[in-house]
Parts: sequence; structure tokens; C-alpha cells
Amino acid sequence: MGLVIRGGTVVNAGERFTADIEVEGRTITGMGTGLPKGAGDTEIDAAGRFVLPGLIDPHVHMELPFMGMVSIDDFESGTASGIAGGTTSIIDFCIPGAGMSLLDGLKLWRERSAKATSDYSFHMAITHWGEHTADEMRAVVRDHGITSFKVFMAYKGALMVDDHALYQVMKVAAETGAVVTVHAENGDAVWNLQQELLAAGHTGPEYHPVSRPSAVEGEATERALTLARLHGATAYIVHMTCRESLHALERAKLAGQKCYGETCPQYLLLDDRVFNAPDFGGSAYVMSPPIRPLHLGHHDALWSGLSNGMLDSIGTDHCPFTHEQKRMGVKDFTRIPNGAAGIEDRLAILYTHGVVGGRFSLERLVELCASAPARIFGLDKKGAVAVGMDADLVVFNPDAKSVRSARTHFSKADRSIFEGFDVQGKVEKTIVGGRVAFDNGKLMAERGAGRFIARKPTHFAHPPEVKA
Ligand code: URP
Ligand code: ZN
Ligand code: ZN
Repeated sequence: MGLVIRGGTVVNAGERFTADIEVEGRTITGMGTGLPKGAGDTEIDAAGRFVLPGLIDPHVHMELPFMGMVSIDDFESGTASGIAGGTTSIIDFCIPGAGMSLLDGLKLWRERSAKATSDYSFHMAITHWGEHTADEMRAVVRDHGITSFKVFMAYKGALMVDDHALYQVMKVAAETGAVVTVHAENGDAVWNLQQELLAAGHTGPEYHPVSRPSAVEGEATERALTLARLHGATAYIVHMTCRESLHALERAKLAGQKCYGETCPQYLLLDDRVFNAPDFGGSAYVMSPPIRPLHLGHHDALWSGLSNGMLDSIGTDHCPFTHEQKRMGVKDFTRIPNGAAGIEDRLAILYTHGVVGGRFSLERLVELCASAPARIFGLDKKGAVAVGMDADLVVFNPDAKSVRSARTHFSKADRSIFEGFDVQGKVEKTIVGGRVAFDNGKLMAERGAGRFIARKPTHFAHPPEVKA
């Protein structure tokens, strides 16, 4: 008893063609035209629709304890929200608490994620450098199939690491073949700017971006890439927002360094006017790095980076907090929990503003949101519609129009940073592991149906002698 998806236009990175797709169990078992329908097979008519590989979100935080709160989507609601938006795999960040070992952190994350409705993996965060950290990193890669790490260069006093830790993480990652994902902002500079603003009585959310100017992101990106280069490590800079950090990435790439850059839809579509929304409404948009002003050219630079190949992927940094949770920082913007929802919006927003908007092709969208994350992070059975790959698929109607809203999304977030955005193109069906999990607005995602995906290391040290 399988599934046949008939007559759709399959879109992979770099190609599109019309084909029927045959699914048995969790796997795509056949592709071609006029495939026969087996007894008991369910048939889906995809004529006039695109059939895409299920998107991969390489950057999410489900039920993350952060800044005194826990982000509101857990692994069940967050992955279900993803499915409704065409995302069928996530890579969350395992962030062990203070004093907790990496392996204990991983155990905790494995327990929390057991209710996920779609497949998942983790990046392992290193938030301090201790005498056992190197060995634990090796064990995480060797024994647990986690082949990417995370360092935060910001959030001083909480998650931030110093350059010594950064240096050591890059060294062990290069030795073990893991990639290092980096939140690149100069956390000391941010902390000082925050204290100066608060001392001057500037306490509202509109001061959040003032405390984190693009220069601090550019400097940290340059520093992270330099430390990676010393060891031949592969760095992946997450949620890039500005020209300065893009230039640092571009310099490294053009000098032959193996490194990657990610941005998120909010940095392409929103600008810093959002922080002036009345009634503390600007708090909904508080995330780090911040949403940038329009007039400085950051948005255009990001769009160009996506089309010219300097940027490699688009994640969402899905990390929603409710309005009530955000009120923690009502008298002090530095205490507003950072983050917002986005996993459900990514495909429709990027199809509308990227593809229909003429910025890049649908094939490139698939590359940025599915095949590149799969390749970079070693999700071997994901990111393409092909025989032998996991049957994670999206049937997408390019003509349907709708409006994004917190009233209709499946996330538990009570606000949407894309509220009122008109979008073209709609996820009609999402197939997860060979089963229809979303069908024309009806969510049938199954608690616990997602699997942990163990990965293999591929990013072993590459020659550090790159051109100056
Ligand atoms: O503001 C953000 N981005 N919140 C989530 C944590 C992080 O820095 O990615
Ligand atoms: Zn971050
Ligand atoms: Zn994040």
C-alpha cells in the first residue's frame, strides 16, 4: 500500500521535469511517466502543481530555555507548524544548561524531541571550554551522529564564548570533520552599548537594533572565519543580516576558504521601522542580530548574495515567544526574550518575494531551503526528489493566494512578524515519511512520527593556506 503522486512538475535544485512519483513506505521507489497504480495505493493528482522536496530548516529552537523563558513551540507544535509550511526536517540547537555536559544535554534534547512530528537532528552548542570539552565533542560526532557544533559570540554572561573557546572548537571540529555554526556578533561591544543606552534612559524595544549595529556583526564574522581558517575548519555563519558580514564571507570564499552563510526571511523582508509599533508591539520583532534599516543597503546585499551564490541557505531561526513572555522586558529592552516564529512562513514568503518577485528561480529556492542544508549538514536522504530518497514531499499550488496571519498559523505563537503579508503560492499537501501529514489546511501530523537522523562527518580539515 503506497502512494502515487501523478503529473506534477518536480522541482529540484537545478532541474524541473514532469513525472509521476511512486512511494513505498518512507521511500521514493519510482519516478517516470504513466506509473501504474498498485492495489491499495493512494493516488494524488498533482497536475498544475509543483512537487518539491520537503524543505529542511537548518536553524530552529523548539522549547528553548532562553533569557528566563522557554520558547513557546515545543517539538510537536514546532514541527507541525513546519509541516503546514512545507518543512519536513529540522535541525535544532542542543544547548546544554550551565555546568551540564554535552552528553547530558543531548540526552535531554533527545527526550524533548521524541514528540516531533517530522525528522530532526541537532547542532551541539558549546557554551564554555572545559577540560573535557574536546573529548565530549569527539564522542558526540563519533558515537551520536551529531556532526555540527554551534558557538555564540554574543549573549555575554549566558551563551557567549570567548576567542579561546572559539579557537579550540574550530580545532576539534576540523579534526572530527564537523562543521561549526556561528552566531556572529561581538558580544562585549553589544553589552557595552546596551549599558550605555540603558544609563541614558533608552529602555524601549526600538533601542535593541541601536545596541547591535551591523559593524559588530561584521567584526565577529571576520573573526570567526579567521579562527576557522587557522585550523582548516568549516564555518557556517547563521542568520546573516548585513553588508559587513557578507563582505567578510565573500573575502573568505574568494580566498578559497570553505565556509557557508545563511540568512532568514525576516532580514530580507522587514526593516527597523517595525520596532516602533505601538503598545510594546516592537517587542515581537526583537531578535538577534536585529532587523536592519532599509536605507543602508543590507537588504539588497542579502538578496544579491542569495542569487549570486555568496549565501548558501535560508533558515528561519524559529524561536517564538508570546507577547506575555516578551513583556519580561517591558522596562528594559535587554530583557525581552529574543526570537520569533517563521518556520511556517518561509516557503510562501520566499516564493512570493524571491521567485514571483524575480530575485531567483524556484530551483534556487529549493537549493537554498532543501538541497544545500542537506548537503552541508549531511542529511543524505533528504533535499531532492529522486528514487531512493526519503518520501518527504510538498505539493505546491503556485497560483493560490492567501494572507499570512497568527490567526491561521499552526504555531503556538500569538503573533506573526509577517502578519498581513499577501502571499502567492500555497502548500496544498505535505508528505512526511511517505504519509500525508498536511492536506489543504488540515493538519494530520502525528506526534512522535519524526525520527532522529544520525549524520556522518564530512568537513575534515582543509588546507589553511588560502590566498591573503
Ligand atoms: O533572537 C534570536 N535569534 N533568538 C534565538 C537565538 C539565536 O540567537 O539564534
Ligand atoms: Zn543566534
Ligand atoms: Zn537561532
